[in-house]
Amino acid sequence: MRTRRAALTVTAVSLILSLAACGQSGDGGSKEEKKKSSEGATIGIAMPTKSSERWIADGNNMVAQFQKLGYKTNLQYGEDDVAQQVSQIENMITKGVDVLVIAAIDGRALSDVLQQAADKNIKVISYDRLILGTKNVDYYASFDNEKVGVLQANYLLDKLGLKDGSKKGPFNLEVFGGSPDDNNTGYFFNGAWKTLKPYIQKKQLVVRSGQTYLSQVTTLRWDGGTAQKRMDDLLTKAYGSQKVDAVLSPYDGISIGILSALKSDGYGTSAKPYPLVTGQDAEVASVKSIIAGQQTQTVYKDTRALAKQAVQMADAVLNGKKPEVNDEKTYDNEVKVVPAFLLDPVSVDKSNYQSVLVDSGYIKASDLK
Ligand code: GAL
Repeated sequence: MRTRRAALTVTAVSLILSLAACGQSGDGGSKEEKKKSSEGATIGIAMPTKSSERWIADGNNMVAQFQKLGYKTNLQYGEDDVAQQVSQIENMITKGVDVLVIAAIDGRALSDVLQQAADKNIKVISYDRLILGTKNVDYYASFDNEKVGVLQANYLLDKLGLKDGSKKGPFNLEVFGGSPDDNNTGYFFNGAWKTLKPYIQKKQLVVRSGQTYLSQVTTLRWDGGTAQKRMDDLLTKAYGSQKVDAVLSPYDGISIGILSALKSDGYGTSAKPYPLVTGQDAEVASVKSIIAGQQTQTVYKDTRALAKQAVQMADAVLNGKKPEVNDEKTYDNEVKVVPAFLLDPVSVDKSNYQSVLVDSGYIKASDLK
């Protein structure tokens, strides 16, 4: 018995020792491998447009962070032209990139090109916007997109005095949505709508245009000019002697368009002050507008932090590791649920832009002069 136990112990010890040795050489090996597998790798980064400064920042942040880790990068902007983005991605595949990071212009237009990527075993990270209808998307880095809409809607309810019941309304509200081909659009709108709906049902908020379905309020390619035209139209057809009190806008570029229409209609005076106007992205022009008392709010999404997540994901997949994710159930792209890392958006207005945007180094104080 004793002999058997002793023999077992010896076996166990030698097993542990050999496992430890294995672990050591395994570790050493994986370090070697890490060097080999990611060394000199190239990351293809496809961004949607340079017409909005956030995407310029996203691209630059990723390039800087990838290069710091020793990767090469190939950054392209599709200028909101779907075919152009597809051919840029095709080119990246032909040139032999190792990972693709893509913020799609049209979330549904990439199935063919991503099949080409999969055929070459190139992993794909969907950046900010979810790529739809294909199994060939591996990870998703974004923000809590529904929360963006909730923050915008709650801001309006708060400032109108409806949230704490200090005012009863009715207040006139108009709503705008983002681009219909961007998966985020639905999330932003649904988050906002579910927050506003109880007040609409109680008639404390009234949408005089009657346009309350997402399909009626979208803004193709998030274009400010398109939003301006729609706002002009709404003011002409649904307002007259009535005033707009609040506008739900999903994005700063759209907010700037809405504000131009309001200005042309005589808003912006003490007799006819601007309505509350929300936004998203904390773009410099909008933060300036907030400081000037025109746009009221924006939602800040730190593109440095988003870039960091995408870089973390790419680095992990290139080294055969599982990227860090914090959501494995929300983002179903109709073929699969894409594992995601979601960051937290922050509501910003005149009262906190200094601490949130300037003190954090996101925007330089001198850029806001
Ligand atoms: C969305 C993005 C927003 C905004 C918008 C227009 O996909 O989530 O933050 O940038 O595009 O560019």
